[in-house]
Amino acid sequence: MKRGSFLVLEGIDGSGKSTQLQRLAAALEAAGHAVLATREPSDGAIGRRIREMARSGETLPPEQELEWFMEDRAEHVREVIQPALAAGRTVLCDRYYLSTVAYQGARGLDWQAILAESEARFPRPDLALILEIDAASGLARTRLRGGAADPAFENLEFLERVAAIFAAIDRPWIARIDGSRDPDSVASAINAAVESRDARN
Ligand code: ADP
Ligand code: TYD
Repeated sequence: MKRGSFLVLEGIDGSGKSTQLQRLAAALEAAGHAVLATREPSDGAIGRRIREMARSGETLPPEQELEWFMEDRAEHVREVIQPALAAGRTVLCDRYYLSTVAYQGARGLDWQAILAESEARFPRPDLALILEIDAASGLARTRLRGGAADPAFENLEFLERVAAIFAAIDRPWIARIDGSRDPDSVASAINAAVESRDARN
């Protein structure tokens, strides 16, 4: 069985990842692909613990935070992502290791070192779609979305640092998408990036 493709959506809070993940999953399914849609922090034990912490507003030292995200990812890759890829499914993941590079980098850790460690430890996505939007617009969208704010991560200065690191990461498997446009335009740009990657492989 041919291994499935591994596609990830990245970007700051409010950049439109969850919205576009659903749309991309629907488009791929309509084209006949078997799709597994998933996310990080994951729905496993460590991922659930991270979400609870974030909701409570409690902050950990950045080194500890890094360790939890890495452990969650190791479990998620082993239990969910690898088995689906091996079964030939297309895996779509809302956030993956570039989020750790950008967010824990913005918390003051060395982002290049996190990128190097991630590349040594985890499977590389076939394509990372980074949805680009300025931090103020992303934040305004998350406030419109409502629900519990995430005080540790959702503030303007912090998100500006996160966006700056996303902008600085340079890998050939990254496609940058203008996330500030309307949802249909963003979806078309994503579909085009996925198709052009398929055409190259
Ligand atoms: P993320 O998963 O990156 O945090 P979401 O997909 O949850 O982002 O989007 C955040 C909010 O912005 C939601 O309320 C969503 O409906 C809205 N939204 C998503 N994409 C767009 C867009 N292209 N234009 C305007 N609003 C959008
Ligand atoms: P998420 O639930 O995706 O938030 P949102 O839907 O608002 O984008 O992620 C929760 C928070 O965890 C988010 O602010 C980003 C942060 N995060 C990290 O700091 N490092 C990581 O490695 C990951 C995966 C997420």
